[in-house]
Amino acid sequence: MSAALPQLPAATAVSILHAATPAQWLADALADLPALLLDHANCEKKAASTALALMFAYADDRPLALALSRLAREELRHFEQVLRCMSACGVAFARQRPGRYAHQLRSALRSGEPGRKLDLLLAAALIEARSAERFALLAPRVPATLARLYQSLASAEARHFELYIHFAQAAAPQQWPARREQLAAHEALLVTTADDTLRFHSGPLRAPRGA
Ligand SMILES: [Fe+2]
Ligand SMILES: [Fe+2]
Repeated sequence: MSAALPQLPAATAVSILHAATPAQWLADALADLPALLLDHANCEKKAASTALALMFAYADDRPLALALSRLAREELRHFEQVLRCMSACGVAFARQRPGRYAHQLRSALRSGEPGRKLDLLLAAALIEARSAERFALLAPRVPATLARLYQSLASAEARHFELYIHFAQAAAPQQWPARREQLAAHEALLVTTADDTLRFHSGPLRAPRGA
């Protein structure tokens, strides 16, 4: 990548998030690793496709295109790594309905420029930050076949978070901190409120009626 990354004072992917992942989500995820792995594989594909979509949308931004080209390839390698782990764990690939997270996060983004570019970059940064946080939570608690991968993904996704934040700063040097706060608050709601399906970025599962 040609552009230097920002100097974020002690800022980490986790510190940008407005809420920590609830303990109940972690319990739900550990109780259904096949569903988590399947969604995780889809998330890696989606991360590559988001990067490609940004390259097409902002084709005149050469530093962004170069950085995202590398990022997209890395996300596809992650996808292949998850597939290998799924095979090792005996989890077959199957179609799965996406959760609410990405769709509802995107619903908060502005549709007109110049705000849309900043919002897309910030949303991508928040997704990467949440992924890094959750991989770090999961890594010490999952079976050995997955633990090493999740540990390495925690640092890879934290690096992607920094990259997206760097381009968000470049896109809107004045507005990005305030907008980051707004979108981070929205993101925090999505991962802390009760959800109907377990996904990598879901909230904790809604308790069954009468429980
Ligand atoms: Fe990834
Ligand atoms: Fe990533």
